[in-house]
Amino acid sequence: MDKVVIAPSILGVDVKEAPQICNELISSGADMIHFDVMDGKFVPNTSFSFEDFKYIKENALEDMKFDVHLMVEDVYAYVEQYVLMGADIITFHYEAVKESDILHLASLLHAYNIRVGISIKPNTDVKVLTPFLSQMDLVLVMSVEPGAGGQKFNEAMLSKVEFLRDYRALNECHYEIEIDGGINNLTGKKAKESGVDYLVSGSYIIKANNRKEAIESLK
Ligand code: DX5
Ligand code: ZN
Repeated sequence: MDKVVIAPSILGVDVKEAPQICNELISSGADMIHFDVMDGKFVPNTSFSFEDFKYIKENALEDMKFDVHLMVEDVYAYVEQYVLMGADIITFHYEAVKESDILHLASLLHAYNIRVGISIKPNTDVKVLTPFLSQMDLVLVMSVEPGAGGQKFNEAMLSKVEFLRDYRALNECHYEIEIDGGINNLTGKKAKESGVDYLVSGSYIIKANNRKEAIESLK
C-alpha cells in the first residue's frame, strides 16, 4: 500500500490561530488540511465561514493544500466560492444532493481542475455510490455522524472502505478512499488495513501534547 495521506481537521480551532496551527501541522508531517464546512442545516452545527477560509488560506504557508468537506444542504451555493478561494479537493455529501446533480457537480469541479469527492453518512449504504464512482477522485466514508469532532469511531464503517477498495480494483475507477471521524493511532491502523488512502483526524491531533508525534503515529 502507498503511503497514507494525513489530513488533520482544524474544526474547533480559533480562526485567528488557525494559520499558525496549519503551518505547524504541515511542518510536523501532515500532507494537507481538512477544512470542515457546516451550514446548521445539513448538520445542526455551523463551523467556518467563507471569510474564515480566505483568512486562513491567505495567512498560512503559500503552497498549503486544502481538503474541503462540505456538510451543507445547498452544495451549489458553496462549491464555486471554494473553487475561487483555492480549495484543492471539494467533497460534498450524497445525502445533500439530487442523484441527477452528482455527475454535473463532478464535471463542474473538473472543469476548474479541482478534485471532487463524495461523502456518505454512517447510515447510507455505500452501494448507492456505484453509478458515480468512475467520476470521483475521492470517496469520504464518515465513521461518525457528521457535525462534531471528538466522537467515537464506528468500526462497522470499515466494511464500506473494503467494498470501495475491492470495487476500485475491479472497475475503471481511480478514486482515493478517505475516512473521517474518531481517527487515532488505533482506529487509523484498522482503517489503513481496510484500504484507506486518506486519514482525517481532528481532536486526536489538535489536542495532543505533541502534535508531531500524533501525526507520526498515524502513518
Ligand atoms: C465531523 C467532521 C470531522 C471532525 C473529525 O463532522 O467532519 O472532520 O472534525 O474530528 P475527530 O477526529 O475528532 O472525530
Ligand atoms: Zn470532515
